Amino acid sequence: MPFPKDFLWGAASASYQVEGAAAEDGKVPGIWDALYKGHVKRDENAAVSADHYHHYKEDVALMKQIGLKSYRFSVSWPRVMSAEGVVNPKGIEFYSNLVDELLCAGIEPLVTLYHWDLPMWAYEMGGWESERISDLFAEYTRIVVDALSDRVQYWMTVNEPQCFIGAGYLGGVHAPFLQVPEKMPTLLRNYMLAHGKSTLVIRQNAKKPPKVGMAPVGSGYTPADNSPEEIERAKKLTYEDMMGLSLWLDPIILGEVPDMLKGLLSEEDLQIIHQPLDFFGFNIYNSQNYEDQNADKGYQGYDGMPRTAMGWAVTPECLYWMPKFHYERYHLPILITENGMANLDWVSLDGAVHDPQRIDYLRRYLRELEKAIDEGVPVIGYQYWSIMDNFEWADGFDRRFGLIYVDYRTGKRTLKDSAHEYARIISVNGAGI
Ligand code: BGC
Repeated sequence: MPFPKDFLWGAASASYQVEGAAAEDGKVPGIWDALYKGHVKRDENAAVSADHYHHYKEDVALMKQIGLKSYRFSVSWPRVMSAEGVVNPKGIEFYSNLVDELLCAGIEPLVTLYHWDLPMWAYEMGGWESERISDLFAEYTRIVVDALSDRVQYWMTVNEPQCFIGAGYLGGVHAPFLQVPEKMPTLLRNYMLAHGKSTLVIRQNAKKPPKVGMAPVGSGYTPADNSPEEIERAKKLTYEDMMGLSLWLDPIILGEVPDMLKGLLSEEDLQIIHQPLDFFGFNIYNSQNYEDQNADKGYQGYDGMPRTAMGWAVTPECLYWMPKFHYERYHLPILITENGMANLDWVSLDGAVHDPQRIDYLRRYLRELEKAIDEGVPVIGYQYWSIMDNFEWADGFDRRFGLIYVDYRTGKRTLKDSAHEYARIISVNGAGI
């Protein structure tokens, strides 16, 4: 079975990682702007980054050249709100113009409301540790929805809660660079309430019938063979893993409270949190074969396994198994909100950027996704991460995920070979990958 006719072929980005213009047109600092020093490789920061804020028209033209049907981007909260209750019209204008530009190019905008750039003013009010965050987030949601929902239909409330809480508050490697494991239950509850209130605000205020989801991270475990026992075991590990999905999503999608959260979520909380969603979005880069778990090597996979520049194992089968598992568990159409690889790309002597590994990665992963579609899993789209090279959080700029190469000194863009290949794949709707 081929990819569906109206498949949302796309690519993704996030405001802080690509926009730059960190203090322009009324944008106030977010936690990454204010707190990154001493936490990012070589103290790099995203004050300029890919400068998408100034290059957005050129970027949309390149997306059109690639033939994207959709583009997933996030709105920067500190760009559109200067303080509690204070809207920054210039910030709103930027996203409104971006949406117009996309629609003009025939590209469906998919909007993420929170991709980790919490305004400093909200952080100083207690941030994700404070119960107030869910109301602040709902207020911010209303402002964005009022401005964009006449044209935007697809909404994702938050990106990878596992990561902004896990890396930001447990590991201390992402902003706000804290290690407060004792706060974990509070953080989980606050994020769920924020998601629930935001979803309600979207449903109540959107001018176009909205499609609401989120973008959790969705790596998991794959079975070693196709026997029912192996499959069951892989499934169990996928959902029971601490950073896996049941703890973070079951209350939201199923209205079920895992043991670890018992006593934390009241009936009233659950009513807010458990809102119907329209799709199951998830970011996925790789998976573990469950046997790896017992290998006790401290890393994933076998010796000499193919790895990306992040050191992440290349495991295309995750795009077959995880959509199957998640559809079976959550019964929602699947949207791959991120998948892609980092490379150490550079511009060759011939002026092109040759990235054969990325082409191979793309094709291998998409083949597996197609297998899931063949077996009846409704997959509505695929967003490659990322549309362009960008600021890779604590890793700075070395690791390039983009389809478009960015020279950060000049802002010059070059379509990588993989962008041309993706264009070809999209033009034949994924036939014969
Ligand atoms: C995040 C992106 C990040 C990418 C690669 C995801 O965890 O949503 O912001 O750049 O993966 O690390």
